[in-house]
Parts: sequence; structure tokens; C-alpha cells
Amino acid sequence: MRRIVHHKLGDPSELLRVEECPSEALGANQVRVKVSFAPIHPGDLLGVMGSPAFGTPPTIGPDGRVPGFEGAGLVSEIGPRVDQNLGLRPGLRVAFFPAPGSWRDEVVVPAGSVTPLPDTIPDEIGAQLLINTATALTAIRTAHESVPPDSRAGVVVLLTAAGSAVGRLLGKLLTDRGVKVIRLVRSEVGAEKLAELLPGSPIFATDAPAGRSVQGPPPRVRRFTSRSTVSAAPCSATSLTSWLKGPGRSSISAHLAARRAISGCLRPAP
Ligand SMILES: NC(=O)c1ccc[n+]([C@@H]2O[C@H](COP(=O)([O-])OP(=O)(O)OC[C@H]3O[C@@H](n4cnc5c(N)ncnc54)[C@H](OP(=O)(O)O)[C@@H]3O)[C@@H](O)[C@H]2O)c1
Repeated sequence: MRRIVHHKLGDPSELLRVEECPSEALGANQVRVKVSFAPIHPGDLLGVMGSPAFGTPPTIGPDGRVPGFEGAGLVSEIGPRVDQNLGLRPGLRVAFFPAPGSWRDEVVVPAGSVTPLPDTIPDEIGAQLLINTATALTAIRTAHESVPPDSRAGVVVLLTAAGSAVGRLLGKLLTDRGVKVIRLVRSEVGAEKLAELLPGSPIFATDAPAGRSVQGPPPRVRRFTSRSTVSAAPCSATSLTSWLKGPGRSSISAHLAARRAISGCLRPAP
């Protein structure tokens, strides 16, 4: 079996190696999964670096440490005490999480950590389905609870890094729930890509020259948010930051300790 491993903390591009290793023994309540895809999350790389944004630095054992927490693949073996009612069988396509050390050819995980994948979801999507969806739903719940109950109807969400994996999910989940979303990305190229992939709510490029955006001129932001104080250059990061700090607004982050790649700004309806 192959695995991707690091033996100390530091720059992932210098430290990560592919190594051969023996297969792990299968426990009575575990399943073995032949891995087809395991995503590279920003948090995985923070772990390799030992960044404070990861939290407590990961422990590296004598055989090194394999990053990764989720993935997808085919069930290849089932422990003797796995509940038959779960319907797990060899050959079943599944997503799995949590599975520390998922950057390897095969993982051994508790039966409760696998989720069967329907035919409509390919492995490469299933592999990144669980962490990001849980993160997006948690961020939405946190944002919801940060707004006083009598102001929750008709909020507008200002979503930064809207083209990121979690940002795309946040935009879709919020729109499906009838929440108005304004999506911000850095570049106009990124805005065009996002508009093609997920058309719908307005998208603005914060690095675009003042007065320009993909979906319309700055006044559109003012109209969309009504009492928004963003006026002079709503597409610039500076005015956005002051707007976020305005009264009655709150921001959330998908990874509070990391850079604020994902945040939402909520305001009551006019
Ligand atoms: N706590 C958790 O459980 C959890 C789970 C998942 C994700 N997260 C966190 O959520 C964040 C996003 O993860 P992801 O997987 O969605 O990331 P991703 O798909 O790799 O996308 C990263 C995004 O960050 C944007 N970005 C990078 N530097 C930026 C800056 N200086 N200013 C504004 N935007 C910037 C990029 O914009 P461009 O496209 O313009 O380059 C891109 O949209 C990360 O911080 C990650 O650690 C946390």
C-alpha cells in the first residue's frame, strides 16, 4: 500500500513523500475502503506546516504522519461485527469521514464513518462532500444565531471567497433557503468562472478597478442591500472592511484561526 507521509512539520512541498507500507489490520467493527480520491483541504496543509491555525500541532510518530481526513472509494472488506443493517458490502461506493490519515491507497475506518454514495455523485465530488458541507451548515447556523431573533427574516449575506469550495456551498445553500446573497471574489476572472458555474446572485470582484464589476456597477450593491453604507468604492477591500465593522453587522468565518477566507456579513432587512 502507498501513503503520503511527512516526518516533521514544515513546508508541504518539501516534506511530503510517497512511501510503501503494509496494510492495516481490520477491526471487528471496521471496514476497509480502497481509496479513489482524497481531497487536499487548506486545513490539511496547515497541519503539515504545524500552523497555529490548525490548532494543536499534530503528533508525528516514528513512522511519520499521513495527512487527510476524508475521501471516497470502494468498500473492499467488512469486519465480522459490522451491523448488517448498515447494508455495507464489498464493492459499495462510499464517502468516508472522519478518517485521519486518508492520503493513502486504502483506509480502515469504523463502519459508522462511511456513507454510501448514490450513482448521481461521482467519487471526486463524494470525496469532498462531508467536511465542507458540515462546515458550510455550521457557518450558516452560527450566522443565524448571531442575528437577534426579531431580525432574522430578510437578511442579506455578503459572502467573501465565494468561489472557494466552502464558499460555493454556502452560496448555494443560502440561495436554496431563500436568503439573498452577494458574492465577492478577488479577480474578475474568478467572478466570471463562478458566474458560469453557479449563475444567480450578484458577484463582485474586489480587485476590479473601482466602479467595475462583473454583474453591474457599484450602485447595484447599494440597491441590493438598501441601507448599506458601502458607497464610494464597494468593490475595494478597504470599504468592504469598514462596512463589515458597521453597526448591526456580524461576520462569521469557516476557520476562525485561519485567514478569513470565508465570512458572511448579515444585516436586518430594511
Ligand atoms: N474548520 C473547518 O472545519 C473547515 C473546513 C473546511 C474549510 N475550512 C476553512 O475554510 C477556508 C476555505 O476552504 P476551502 O476548502 O473552501 O478553500 P479553497 O477552495 O482552497 O479556496 C480558497 C479561497 O480563498 C480565497 N483567498 C485566498 N487568499 C485570500 C485573500 N487574501 N483574500 C481573499 N480571499 C482569499 C481564494 O480566492 P481566489 O479564488 O481569488 O484565489 C479561494 O476562493 C479555509 O480557511 C479552510 O481552512 C475550515
